[in-house]
Amino acid sequence: MDLTYRPRRLRRSQALRSMVREHTLNATDFIYPLFVHEGGEVEGISAMPGANRWTLDTLVNEVERAWGLGIRCIVLFPKVAESLKSEDGAECFNEKGLIPRAIRRLKEEIPEMTVMTDVALDPYSCDGHDGIVSPDGIVLNDETIEYLCRQAVVQAQAGADLIGPSDMMDGRVGAIRESLDEEGFEHVGIISYTAKYSSAYYGPFREALDSAPRAASEKLIPKDKSTYQMDPANAREAITEAQLDEQEGADILMVKPGLAYLDIIHRLRQESELPIAAYNVSGEFSMVKAAAERGWIDERSVVLETLLSFRRAGADLILTYHACDAAEWLRQG
Ligand code: PBG
Repeated sequence: MDLTYRPRRLRRSQALRSMVREHTLNATDFIYPLFVHEGGEVEGISAMPGANRWTLDTLVNEVERAWGLGIRCIVLFPKVAESLKSEDGAECFNEKGLIPRAIRRLKEEIPEMTVMTDVALDPYSCDGHDGIVSPDGIVLNDETIEYLCRQAVVQAQAGADLIGPSDMMDGRVGAIRESLDEEGFEHVGIISYTAKYSSAYYGPFREALDSAPRAASEKLIPKDKSTYQMDPANAREAITEAQLDEQEGADILMVKPGLAYLDIIHRLRQESELPIAAYNVSGEFSMVKAAAERGWIDERSVVLETLLSFRRAGADLILTYHACDAAEWLRQG
């Protein structure tokens, strides 16, 4: 054939392919989510094979391991004892609570590791919602924000580097920014869960923390989070959320979940000059693990291909439970 263009010319060898590769994956792109609990033993999580609820001591070892693999940021999620949960979730700003203690420990032992936190009430709420639920079943916006601000300040006091509001209340980024600044934490950043969708992909995470919405009291409790998390049918709305977060002072914008929302990552990349993060959530992780356990897919190849897809879509950073495995595979080359 008389072809002028033969794209295969640049695919002929490993060396040529590596020269024209458009996107890369590095351990420094990863943010590694970790679960902690009060117990004295490490606990597995049945819906998330390979992920654990760490004790404070074993958490330190796991974070040291991640540092050794080149990972430079972790994010902490607490499994809070049922006895500490309440309707308003006030345990979230207990300065002696699990998360502030975990942050202090990590900052003593591995001070250079960037510590990100999650700001929302769900792990602390007996109703399993990210905000305070009114007696008639409304998730209250402005009342919740006061709690979120106190939670963020307590996390900053413990040494957090990046505060991650995941609650989707309106106006929370600006309010948290103001509270942090008032308390002298103008150097602490905000990585906002900007476009967080009301997604069934969070199922395994809610098992890990035992944090799903539930009717624990007489109150009418909304059975899902669709009055505050975004409708999966909407894309333009993500741009509105991103514009608001930017105006309110967010430092990094996040899209969550990641894989079913690559278009949203791509759109935010075009709309904003801020760094973009993608959250490769628990359900995405568990599906890969389950198929790999059955021998139906090759875990290593599928994970690296998936992580690369977030980078190609425009994400600078990827929150992923695969972080350590992926960092190890990248090291092996
Ligand atoms: C809590 C929170 C959730 C996740 C991160 N922070 C769950 C939810 O909103 O119900 C999900 C993470 C995952 O599924 O990996 N606000």
